[in-house]
Amino acid sequence: MAQQWSPSSWRDKPVRQMPEYGNPGALEDVEARIAKLPPLVFAGEARSLQHSLGEVAQGRAFLLQGGDCAESFSEFSADKIRDTFRVILQMAVTLTYAGSMPVIKVGRIAGQFAKPRSSDSETQDGVTLPSYRGDNINALDFTPEAREPDPERLIQAYHQAAATLNLLRAFSKGGYADLKRVQNWNLDFVADSPLGERYRDMAEHVDDALRFMAACGITSETVPALHTTDFYTSHEALHLNYEQAMTRTDSLTGDWYDTSAHFLWVGARTHQEDHAQIEFVRGLKNPLGLKCSPALEPDELLRLIDVLNPENIPGRLTLIARMGHEQVEEKLRPLLRAVKHEGRAVVWSCDPMHGNTYKASSGYKTRRFDHILGEVQGFFAAHREEGTHPGGVHFEMTGQDVTECVGGAEAIGDEDLSNRYHTACDPRLNANQALELAFLIADELKAARQDRPFQPVIAAASAE
Ligand code: PEP
Ligand code: CO
Repeated sequence: MAQQWSPSSWRDKPVRQMPEYGNPGALEDVEARIAKLPPLVFAGEARSLQHSLGEVAQGRAFLLQGGDCAESFSEFSADKIRDTFRVILQMAVTLTYAGSMPVIKVGRIAGQFAKPRSSDSETQDGVTLPSYRGDNINALDFTPEAREPDPERLIQAYHQAAATLNLLRAFSKGGYADLKRVQNWNLDFVADSPLGERYRDMAEHVDDALRFMAACGITSETVPALHTTDFYTSHEALHLNYEQAMTRTDSLTGDWYDTSAHFLWVGARTHQEDHAQIEFVRGLKNPLGLKCSPALEPDELLRLIDVLNPENIPGRLTLIARMGHEQVEEKLRPLLRAVKHEGRAVVWSCDPMHGNTYKASSGYKTRRFDHILGEVQGFFAAHREEGTHPGGVHFEMTGQDVTECVGGAEAIGDEDLSNRYHTACDPRLNANQALELAFLIADELKAARQDRPFQPVIAAASAE
């Protein structure tokens, strides 16, 4: 029998990856102020997302989840939000058209600030300071003042998330996402590249289809789905003081929702069954994600599924595998098999980023584009072998023309990394690389469709 849950029951559990504040009273004051601020999302929206993810769990849709590794206060601008949104739209239309799948769009945005770190401290030239943990906690500069956690940053992060979400809602509902504008989503620097050309070709086909549909009386005026889109937000449920302060009861159902985002995930470093992050998210009704690293054994995963989705609701839980390109098939297949055998309804998503990070000889933390593609291909291959649905991808990208991951059609080399390396944390795909990834996934989805008719997980569950 599970113990009583409350938004604060995580406080009785061991907790990792949380900052230590010099002044706990100041943190309490900030928590009380955040608890009075309006919710950022509504419970009904989180329920719609869960319903859509249920379609993914049953093999009828695909999840596209992406955005910054860490949002930052200094890189906050309307153009940046628009460009990220635009690339996600491009990727989504590519998958919908070329892969013939409805695509559920979820941004790592409007709240993705707090970062788990491999070490609590960082040493430079003999000086040791606390690690940078994300702009909602401390600052990146290597000085004692910058690295001191400041709870007021949580308030600034809330307001930045609110402003970001406001613009995203305007873009997704106000006409920017109208399929008629499919040609306009190409960013200038993408338009001149081979990927931009491939996108333009596809967009022309979409235009043709829209003209045909218009002739049949189906236009964005008659069918709102052509004019607007659903775009959801997500971040890692890491900073539990903030998440608790944003957790409210839904007046319709009486259930608890973390209103800081539609979807929350627990990271690979904090998903111990008896620890605070798992305790906190298990009582929320938001759809949840769980990162799965190569160290996760099938038994442990099944126990975590018991805790996070005891009623086996399709769409409630997304398992985000981040295995690394070399190990993906070997490590993922036992997990797929165990989950299928036990009849658990989950969304399987592939994070091809976090298992493929290394330090280049130039000193920059980077990822190779061919490793990223390799992991995606391995993910699809593993699902093909096990007869399960490759449900989605989870990636770090930006709409800016950065040089953070090596390779891709522009052949970014190690020596190019210093040109435009802007990330506050992990290396992100740039817009060209993100689009290239989308075309590859579209090809995989097409092949998966042709290979076999999909067997829904639910049928497997009820047949047991
Ligand atoms: C992340 O998604 O930014 C992250 C830190 O991932 P993981 O927990 O999988 O390492
Ligand atoms: Co990251």
